[in-house]
This record gives sequence, structure tokens and C-alpha cells, in this order.
Amino acid sequence: MVFLRDRFGRTVTNVRISVTDRCNFRCSYCMPEEGMQWLQKDKLLSFEEIARFVALVAPLGVHKIRLTGGEPLMRKELHRLIRMLRAIEGVDDIALTTNAFFLKEQARDLIDSGLHRINISLDSLDPRLFAEIARRDYFQQVWEGIEEVERLGLRPIKLNVVLIRGVNDHEIPRFAELARSRGFVVRFIEFMPIGKDDGWTMEKVVPTTEVLQRINAYAPLVPVTRLDHKTPADTYVFADGAGEIGFISSVSQPFCTDCDRVRITSDGKFRTCLFSLHETDLRAMLRGGASDQQIIASITDAIEKKEEGHLINRPGFVRPERTMSQIGG
Ligand code: 5AD
Ligand code: SF4
Repeated sequence: MVFLRDRFGRTVTNVRISVTDRCNFRCSYCMPEEGMQWLQKDKLLSFEEIARFVALVAPLGVHKIRLTGGEPLMRKELHRLIRMLRAIEGVDDIALTTNAFFLKEQARDLIDSGLHRINISLDSLDPRLFAEIARRDYFQQVWEGIEEVERLGLRPIKLNVVLIRGVNDHEIPRFAELARSRGFVVRFIEFMPIGKDDGWTMEKVVPTTEVLQRINAYAPLVPVTRLDHKTPADTYVFADGAGEIGFISSVSQPFCTDCDRVRITSDGKFRTCLFSLHETDLRAMLRGGASDQQIIASITDAIEKKEEGHLINRPGFVRPERTMSQIGG
């Protein structure tokens, strides 16, 4: 098999596809409260265009797909896309990152269409704090969405918690308790500087080492050996066997050297890194009559130039202009 390899020897096996930039939440670390300009619908890649891209890269070793947004469940009939991607030879893992607001009503269709895995953003277990962070009073709907996928048997269910010092870090033990009692995989994510008005400062980042200490004080954790080093999360289980916790240490311990992913924004720009300052206009090629060979050539060219890593909190770091919702989380 021909692989997609970059000049640092990393192989791309994983693509994150943003299916919309729209979101019904306004998480303070992600986007401003007002004034977001959404893309016109015709600027979004169609399901057919996305499937064509995936069918071109699957034979080159891309077998994992993650659908993101904005909020991906705001894209009409997302389950149709999942079904289309499932049918592509070589694709064996389709995952979704969602805020879960629309999950209760869509879970059945998503799972029936072949969704393998789900990550749900959940930054607080306190409905009032949740409403403050998301700027929407939607905890109840989100929780019902989580319970629905739990009821339908999709596993694992991963809950993503972006920790912000002074905002939700006092809930670390509650989240740990949830991982122990309910079997959800709780993943603590370090707050990253992306986009405008996110209020990011280094002081607001709660580093993984600190979270580990705080959980250990409550119940001891043991690391799970990372078999393939292919996941950005470091995984731990509680010493007594009950519950799993993940840490995504994007700021304190970047996982760039093991990075196996690329991204497509909802308007069809191919990006080799969340923090890329350069994009390849895939949509223009898809709509401009480019041949399969031409598309593959520009993708392999972009991957060849994939950045070594990001420079968060080091001199030379440049914030991407787009917000996380515009790039695709
Ligand atoms: N830092 C860390 N994680 C973020 N996310 C969105 N913005 C940020 C940020 N600035 C997370 C969301 C979601 C995932 C797609 O990315 O909470 O879980
Ligand atoms: Fe929406 Fe996700 Fe951004 Fe929150 S983090 S505003 S749920 S896209």
C-alpha cells in the first residue's frame, strides 16, 4: 500500500472532517458571544464531495474518520454521510465529536448508519456553570443525549472536559467520580489558544500533571500502556479497576511527534495541523473539475510539508485566525 507520509516520517491515517461551522452553543473558549458569521450553505462541502475525498485517501491508508463542527449534528441528515463513508473500502472507524444537544433525537439513526464511536463535550456537571460556559442553558438536553447513546449501547462514550482554571477545575473529582460510577471515559483537555476572544492565558491552563495529582488524591490511578502511541490521549484506569480517565495535554506535552491526522474545514480547506497557517483549497479542486490524480497530488504535496508541531507558549507561536468552530475541533 502507498502511504501518506510526511518529511518527519509520520503517516497520516486519520482525517477530521468539519461538516459545518455552525453551532447552537457559544462556549466562551471557542467563540465570541455575538457576531459569528456563518458560511453560506453552498460553501460547505457536500456529502458527495466529502465522500469523494475520503474514497481517494482511503486506499492511501486513511482508515479513521472523525466528523466535527461547529456542531456536526446541525448538519442536516448527518447519518446519510456516515452511511456513505461506511461504504468506502478501508474505512473502519467513524467517530463523532458533538455537543450532544441534538443527540437524543439522532442517536438511533447515527448508530444504525454505522457510527463507531462518540465524543461528547461536557465542561460542567453543574447546570448553572454549564450554562455560563456554553452561554446556553442546555445541560438537560445534553445529559439526555448522553443517556440515550448509553441506552442504545454505543461504547465507549467519551466525555471531553476542557479545564479552565478558576472556572471548572473544582469539578475534577466529580468528573472522576462519574468515570467510576457510570463507565464513561472522561477526558480532560488542556485549554488551547485558538481564535479570537477566547480569553486564553497560560495561567488558565490546568496542566495534566496537576489534574493527575488531584485525582490521585481522591482515588489512585494507574497508566494504561500506550500500545500504538497513536492517540493524543494518555489513558489511566483507577487502581481498583473501575473507570477510565484520559488526558489531552496539548499545551504541556504536545503530541505532535506522533500526529497521524489531517483536517478538512467545513468550507473544504485541507489543513495539516490545527495550527496551520497555510491551507489547500480542496473545494476549488473538487468543484473545478480536477482529476483524482490532481487531487491526490496536491494532498500528498501538502502532507509532505506538514508542520513539525505547534509552538504554543513558545516564541514564534502564531494563533490561527479562525476559531476552533471554523477549523473543526
Ligand atoms: N482548547 C481546548 N479544547 C477546545 N475545544 C474547543 N475549543 C478549545 C480550546 N480552545 C474542544 C471542544 C470539543 C473539541 C472539539 O474541542 O470542547 O470537545
Ligand atoms: Fe459549539 Fe463546540 Fe465551540 Fe462549544 S466548543 S461553541 S459546542 S463548536
